[in-house]
Amino acid sequence: MKVLLVGDGARENALADALANSPKGYRVFAVSSYVNPGIKEAVERTGGTYYIGKPTDPESVRQVIKAVNPDFGVIGPEDPLFNGVADEFRKEGIPVVGASKNCSTIEKSKVWMRELMWKYGIPGRLRFRAFSSVEEAAEFIKEYGGSVAVKPAEQVGGKGVKVVADLQAYLSKEKRIALSKGVSAIGSYAKGSVKIIIEEKVDGPEYTLHVLSDGNVTLPLPLAQDYKHAYLHSIGPETGGMGSISGPGKLLPFITDEEYERSYDIVRRTIQAIEDTFKEKYVGVISGQMMLTGLWGPTIIEYYSRLGDPEASAIIPRIKSDFGEVLELTATGHLAKAKLEVEEAPSVVRAVAPRGYPLNKEMASNKRIWLDLPKMRELGCKVYFGSVALEGNSLVTKGSRALELVAVQPFEEADKTLNKCFSLVSSEIPLIYRRDIGITIAEQVEKAEIVRFTYKNREARGLLGVSADWSPQGGLW
Ligand SMILES: Nc1ncnc2c1ncn2[C@@H]1O[C@H](COP(=O)(O)OP(=O)(O)O)[C@@H](O)[C@H]1O
Ligand SMILES: [Mg+2]
Repeated sequence: MKVLLVGDGARENALADALANSPKGYRVFAVSSYVNPGIKEAVERTGGTYYIGKPTDPESVRQVIKAVNPDFGVIGPEDPLFNGVADEFRKEGIPVVGASKNCSTIEKSKVWMRELMWKYGIPGRLRFRAFSSVEEAAEFIKEYGGSVAVKPAEQVGGKGVKVVADLQAYLSKEKRIALSKGVSAIGSYAKGSVKIIIEEKVDGPEYTLHVLSDGNVTLPLPLAQDYKHAYLHSIGPETGGMGSISGPGKLLPFITDEEYERSYDIVRRTIQAIEDTFKEKYVGVISGQMMLTGLWGPTIIEYYSRLGDPEASAIIPRIKSDFGEVLELTATGHLAKAKLEVEEAPSVVRAVAPRGYPLNKEMASNKRIWLDLPKMRELGCKVYFGSVALEGNSLVTKGSRALELVAVQPFEEADKTLNKCFSLVSSEIPLIYRRDIGITIAEQVEKAEIVRFTYKNREARGLLGVSADWSPQGGLW
């Protein structure tokens, strides 16, 4: 059978590997915007063809679909989904793992997502206000007394474009003014008619639950957590994710089985709400980017309409059963037949990025990078290639996270393995690599215990999700 994979990063490298390693013997075809060496290897090993095109452009992908005539497709990133690439596959009669343009609104519009959660009364929802102008949003912040998170209303590639005010803003005039300046900065990223969303601020450990949906049946994957900040100790600008952890088992050390089930229930209800709204099946991946909070327990921060990157690199290598086949069953509506066996051992992923990432793309681009892949593999490390192109015989950075190093091992062991592997990577530019990923577990367990105590108490008193802040209008907003 032929499968066509769309996308070019480390997540797609992980997907390509899963498909290429399947006992079902798929021939892997792919379309990327540059030659990703990991995807190239999977394509060549299985006798497929590697197309260089525009994964985000439906027309460019349609031509590849026509040329390959695959039995099914798998779409990695969000932009192709937002642009209707999944719909192109379906128009050609090809089943695909990928949300339709409509269904991907759950990720694209944070306002639409919040409205949906309120309309359907889904637990884990936060109070919010949407604004069509930066001035209005800034005005609101000046008046409002609580703590808020301020974001562009639409996905703009995330990454450092929001302000989270963990200040009781009304205490100081200067802080309010600083925050309204932050809103103007966000305004420059905002698109569409609704520009800014302001949400009540919550606190607690974050985690991700990915769920596969074939339109009838859903299948939850093991939890993962990503580390967003650029530098050690979670400081520095927000990035697409500098690494992640998953496990042990289907959980994380700071999330209980009951919390996993509640999170799954939230995501399932959301899938139903999306399907009900569009009268369309949700076929693909949806992931709840969640926080365990004192307000609700499992709470939705945002949704993805695809696998997270680097979360996928932590999860996929832990799946012992045939994940390639699970993807086929998702695309074709037979997910009920899928088996998902997960390794008990956890995994740790650490990304390697060139200096300059994420704020200075030019500095981080076009730098040569070298690695001793056989030795790294020998040490027990998996390497997924991300934003790095094979140009002739050289690996050249493309401005984002170049590599993701993965170890499926107990956390302390993984730390040692990954550090050894990282010492086998070199570049003409200094590299960013977070050595603390996977070793700050105790802190997160502690943080979770605090919020767990709070939400359990609230629940006992029937106050789950109930909150009120001071506002000049009085009461709830
Ligand atoms: N309502 C909120 N309360 C507290 N922190 C938040 C809230 N919303 C977002 N954050 C923080 O900001 C980060 C980015 O916000 P998110 O909505 O995920 O936007 P992005 O599209 O940039 O990923 C989250 O991972 C979380 O740490
Ligand atoms: Mg996010």
